[in-house]
Amino acid sequence: MKILMVCLGNICRSPLAEGIMKEKLKKHGMKGYVDSAGTASYHIGEAPDRRSQEIARKYGIDITDQRARPFKKSDFENFDLIFAMDRQNYHNIIRLAESEKDREKVEMVLNRLYPGKNLEVPDPYYDGKEGFEHVFKLLDASCELIAKSLKK
Ligand code: 4NP
Repeated sequence: MKILMVCLGNICRSPLAEGIMKEKLKKHGMKGYVDSAGTASYHIGEAPDRRSQEIARKYGIDITDQRARPFKKSDFENFDLIFAMDRQNYHNIIRLAESEKDREKVEMVLNRLYPGKNLEVPDPYYDGKEGFEHVFKLLDASCELIAKSLKK
């Protein structure tokens, strides 16, 4: 199973989602490939935001080696599941889809936790540490459910 986590900058939310999802697969003894990308290109090549690195480290996850890259059309071919952090990301991804098969791969990540609600992982960029803690907890809960759903 190949999973792609997508946010806007690929420096705050989706790097955390990638790191957490990888840990969940490991914890459940599952194989898979996880990556992340951003729908905006301002931060290409950058490491995750220091605050994301710190909150990940607090929970035993190392995301320091990740580098931001843009979401691209070929991601539809290369991934089975594509998770958007918020509605803007969702629409940016869907805009590049070329088939129903492409569109079916895209989900709001928190819909695993709050089905049908289309709730967003808030952008923590302008927040303090609490914002990152909140984002971590939301993603941890959702990624746990994603991993469990793939086990069945
Ligand atoms: P992310 O957060 O989408 O979770 O990586 C952001 C990072 C940077 C910006 C916006 C959101 N920015 O505008 O530079």
